[in-house]
Order: sequence, then C-alpha cells, then structure tokens
Amino acid sequence: MKFLKIQKKNAEKKIKELKEKKIIDKQYKVESLEKHVLIPIKKNKIKEVKGEIIEKKGKKVKKIPRLKEELLKVLTKKEMKIFHYKSFDVIGDIIQIMIPKELKKKEKMIGEAFLKCIPNSRVIVKKVSETTGVERVRRVKVIAGEKRTETIHVENGCKYKLDLNKVFFTGRLSNERLRIIKQVKKNEIIYDLFCGVGPYAIPIAKKCKKVVANDINEHAIHYLKENLKLNKIKNISVYNENANEFTKELVKKEGKPSRIIMNLPKTSELFLNAMIKLSEKNTIIHYYTFWGKDKKNKLEGIRIAFKKNNKKHKILGIHKCGDYAPGVGRYCVDIKIIS
Ligand SMILES: C[S@@+](CC[C@H](N)C(=O)[O-])C[C@H]1O[C@@H](n2cnc3c(N)ncnc32)[C@H](O)[C@@H]1O
Repeated sequence: MKFLKIQKKNAEKKIKELKEKKIIDKQYKVESLEKHVLIPIKKNKIKEVKGEIIEKKGKKVKKIPRLKEELLKVLTKKEMKIFHYKSFDVIGDIIQIMIPKELKKKEKMIGEAFLKCIPNSRVIVKKVSETTGVERVRRVKVIAGEKRTETIHVENGCKYKLDLNKVFFTGRLSNERLRIIKQVKKNEIIYDLFCGVGPYAIPIAKKCKKVVANDINEHAIHYLKENLKLNKIKNISVYNENANEFTKELVKKEGKPSRIIMNLPKTSELFLNAMIKLSEKNTIIHYYTFWGKDKKNKLEGIRIAFKKNNKKHKILGIHKCGDYAPGVGRYCVDIKIIS
C-alpha cells in the first residue's frame, strides 16, 4: 500500500484537498505517527501526488453497516413504515429510541441493529414514559448492550455524568444553551434554579464570576456535584431546594442576579412570581415555556406577574428552541427588568 507522508500541521488541509480530488483510498485508515500523518493513496493516482511516498502494509477501515439496511433484516417494509428510526437521541454512549408497541417483540433485534450501526454506542434504551413529574424524568429500559442507564455526555466542551432514569437530560437543547452561554459576561452572577445536572451552570461558570445552581431533584444535585469535579469548576454555590421557597435572603447571601435561568417550561408560570421577587434592576430572566394557540394568554400572564410585583420589564426577544407536541413549541422569552 502506498502512503503520502506529510507533516501533522499540514495534514488537515492536504486530506481535504486529496478528498476533493478523490485520490485517497478510503478502504484504508489514515495513520498517525509522532510528527507525521500517512495518507493512503489509490494505486492509479500515485502519479498525481507530489511529496514523499512510502510503502507499507495498510490497516483496513472497518465498514459500519447502514442502519436502514440492518433494520430491514429484522423488520418488514410495513413495520419500517411505523418505526421512526431516524429520530433517536444520542446521550453519551447511550442511544435512546422510541419503539412502537406493535414492534415490542422485535425490540431486542432492533436494539442490536442500532448497536451495530451507531459508532461508539454501548447501550440501547427505549422510552417507556413521557417526561413526567416534578423532576421531569423520562423512564427508559435497556433493550440491548450493556445493562446500565448511566453515561457521560459531552456538550459545549463540558462533560456530564448522568443517569437517564434519575434525572432530566436532553441533548436537543445544546444550541439553545449555547445561545445563553454566549451572552454571559465575566462579572455576572447567574442563578440557574432548575439546573439539572448542570448543562447551563457548568459552561457558564467557566465564563462568569459565580453561578448559583439549584434543583429539587436530589439525584440531579448528586450528578451536578460529580460534574463540578469532572469539569474542575469551583465557582458554583449548590442548593437542593424548591425554587419557589427562595427569598431575598438568597440574594443577600449570593449577590444580585445578573441573569436568572428558568428552564422548567412545563410549569414555569408557577415560579415566575418568586423569580421576579429575586430579580433586581437590569436582571435578565430567561423564561422557558411551552405554547401553541395559548401564546397570547402566556404573554399576558408574564405582563400580569410583573405588574403585581410593581416591576417594569421589557421583552428583549422570544426564541423558539424546539417542538414539544404537534402545534406546541418550546420558547425562551428573554426579559429584562427595567425598574
Ligand atoms: C426541564 S429540567 C431542566 C434541567 C436543566 N436545566 C437542563 O437543561 O438539563 C427542569 C428541572 O427543574 C427541576 N425542578 C422541578 N421543580 C422544581 C422546583 N420546584 N424547584 C427546583 N427545581 C425544580 C427538575 O428536577 C428538573 O431537573
């Protein structure tokens, strides 16, 4: 097998160029040496490549089977029509899927197909409940792979250890979280009072003065503390309380909130009053909510809550950050306290 030997610092650009010219032999792996990279070249293209060519035995690339083809080995075409196999979630090395009840008998085989086809997957779980209860946890059941529901997920440059059966977590909010993370400035104090395992609190703490993180779910707080260690974060005060019971005492102790993140869209209106009380002039509240046809009522609810508390507010923006149900979206309303 013939390889182009090239310095590491030039490798990325060269690989891109050779890929475009269809010169790389994709059946073989690109190999990494201490200071060089070896790029496998197709036999009939050697003359087109300038640079140092070396000859050695190549390492074959393992071909990953395609998910649809693998599923068609265990499901009929009719069964494939009712199985939305493309809408799976990847959380760490766990793949979370929804299996229609008609396919229950085949769930193990379906799970095995996912294991074969999704790189780095070790566990396949099926959803067995909606996201429910105060703690907003969705139950899952392992159908293939290792028997565990704990994993480490990487998002926005941070690591999160979590157990899907004990805490809320979705990777689908990563862009929305990034939108908030980007807004935070160095001197800010952030209150994340529905923090889960920390996917807002931890990356934000890397940028700002301090984060006050709270969740009512003791498992979420257990994992948050683990994640503080994993990500070497020290500037977070952790609480395991009902957010509605916080008073101005918290602000006296922790400092004026520059922002309050209210990521509990299902019932956020029940907490708005308490959060407005904690806020001060110039605090920004990131208020998550679900709405469909009731959008007007929800906005009116926000207006009334501020009026009751004698505080003036300005809506800085409304951002759609996902779908919740047919005709119902997840929104973040960014609100600034004026006075
Ligand atoms: C939708 S999850 C969001 C978690 C996290 N912010 C995230 O993005 O992964 C809402 C969180 O609010 C917590 N929660 C629900 N009611 C609460 C309350 N009264 N006080 C504090 N936390 C609460 C739940 O346990 C859950 O972890």
